[in-house]
Amino acid sequence: MCGIVAYLGPREAYPILIKGLHRLEYRGYDSAGVALLNGGLSVFKTKGRVSDLENFARNENLHATIGIAHTRWATHGEPNSINAHPHYSQSKKLAIIHNGIIENYAVLKKALINRGYHFQSDTDTEVLVNLIEDIQINEKVELEEAVRIALNQVTGAYAMVLLSEDDPDLLIAARKGSPMVIGIGKDEFFVASDATPLVEYTKSVIYLSEEDVAVMRRGEQIHLKNIKNQEKNPYVQALEMDINKLEKGGYEHFMLKEIFEQPSSIRDSMRGRLHAEKGIVSLGGLVDYEQKIAHAKRIIIVACGTSWHAGLVGEYLIEDLARIPVEVEYASEFRYRNPIITEEDVVIAISQSGETADTLAAIALAKEKGATILGICNVVGSSIARVTDAGSYTHAGPEIGVASTKAFTAQVTVLILLALRLAQIRATIPVSRWMELLHELNAIPEKVDKALQCHDQVKKIADEFKDVRNFLYLGRGYNFPVALEGALKLKEISYIHAEGYPAAEMKHGPIALIDKDMPVVFVAPNTGIYDKVVSNIQEVKARNGKVIAIVTEGDETVRKMADYVVEIPATEEMFVSLLATIPLQKLAYHMAILRGCNVDQPRNLAKSVTVE
Ligand code: AGP
Ligand code: GLU
Repeated sequence: MCGIVAYLGPREAYPILIKGLHRLEYRGYDSAGVALLNGGLSVFKTKGRVSDLENFARNENLHATIGIAHTRWATHGEPNSINAHPHYSQSKKLAIIHNGIIENYAVLKKALINRGYHFQSDTDTEVLVNLIEDIQINEKVELEEAVRIALNQVTGAYAMVLLSEDDPDLLIAARKGSPMVIGIGKDEFFVASDATPLVEYTKSVIYLSEEDVAVMRRGEQIHLKNIKNQEKNPYVQALEMDINKLEKGGYEHFMLKEIFEQPSSIRDSMRGRLHAEKGIVSLGGLVDYEQKIAHAKRIIIVACGTSWHAGLVGEYLIEDLARIPVEVEYASEFRYRNPIITEEDVVIAISQSGETADTLAAIALAKEKGATILGICNVVGSSIARVTDAGSYTHAGPEIGVASTKAFTAQVTVLILLALRLAQIRATIPVSRWMELLHELNAIPEKVDKALQCHDQVKKIADEFKDVRNFLYLGRGYNFPVALEGALKLKEISYIHAEGYPAAEMKHGPIALIDKDMPVVFVAPNTGIYDKVVSNIQEVKARNGKVIAIVTEGDETVRKMADYVVEIPATEEMFVSLLATIPLQKLAYHMAILRGCNVDQPRNLAKSVTVE
């Protein structure tokens, strides 16, 4: 689930490993560790941050030119120093780091205990390393072969790297269901769970495919096969990643930087795809599938969390503009509820990371039933991007803050482009109206820039409400998903309980919560059924609730009723989520800061949820 870095080459490994772990901190983790091979095999690990690991190992001998390092996000056994990775095998001759889950670990563990193995930790990972050792000893095979045999016995997901005291010039890496990339330098290898730790060392990378096993030996070429023992040709690609984009760029937090990046990230999502003057919308990656989507009986969007909220906006957009029925499903529900899927369906998976386990499983199910599968992902080369028939990248750039911000607006942007293109193919809206929408979309990045100016104003509101325990977020139509997203952001980073609701549903239950201590955020720009929302605001005010309203600039009606208003520029109803979401991201950010929370790495959360 979390971070992997490994190094083999002529340089000192430890500084590379530690720097790499820092680069991976954005993924969220609970403990960190490193194993170095220098004569003997030494493991240093601790609960907490990478900086805690550095303190912990400060007085040790850290010289080595080969090593592995890990940040763990606990799945089996609580986050503590014993369960942290790397894990030794029983003989202490092997050390492993692992991301993911070995699902059949309990059965394997029992068998190993019966064979005399003792376990130090509660992890599934320690089972894997002992399984490898057991096979190596009993089958009298090379380590590489033992890894292969072991991986044929495990079910679940792994990205793993192994070190052996008996073979100090060897690194073995393998993956299934969890990403892994290998950087190739001059006589050196870098291994990591994503490319961010490699970027300053090499531009030549190999993305491991499912069930690949890579053997890296000092002074030799990398050797690749799969767990079925088939030899594979390593496919070396050029890494496209801008190192400047990995830094905070002067902002205090990644999340804030990413919030402010939205005018340019939205523009990047539209770049080369929207030509308003010429009246062209095209999504390169989807060209071959446009007709199929346009004539689909039904579109099913699968996603989780924030990406699911973007999916909801997508439903409104595609039904509204292109008149194709759309269903939006939580990937985690879809995969287990025996859904009806046919070959005439088009499934669109939305994911920032492209690695979300539930979304990948939903795709696998839909694929099995013969549906066409498309992806909307941010991370290039990610698993979802690779298993889908076609797709469109959001091009928002790396999103480091665990709370998704610019990825959401980029996903919505791609969905807008898709809906507009489908509407054009299906001729569901008049050309003049279609052209109007293109021009308005073109103007959105500037309007987002304007919406971002609410910074200090939102900070004051946050200061007022920082100590409350509950929040309600209400919106209708396109603003309903915005309300859900606003509530999720607040929960995630400030740990305040917040609920998002369609504003009209309030009277069916949540209205009971309203009193003078209950802040209610209304997403109430002057679009669609604005008048109805105004009535809902009155209902809250009548019960002394505190109203914070997101309104269109110049709005006087709501201003008179609300306790606080934040203005956003006027726009078309179908684009309003791109603007209305901005003050809500900021509200969550300021609340979290004022409450002393770690906004970039909120507790219990991971950036990329690669387990069920
Ligand atoms: C967003 O702020 C969350 N951290 C989370 O809900 C996230 O959107 C979800 O886990 C899906 O991730 P994905 O887009 O990478 O698939
Ligand atoms: N399942 C392993 C553990 O709990 C790995 C978790 C991770 O991916 O960080 O230790």
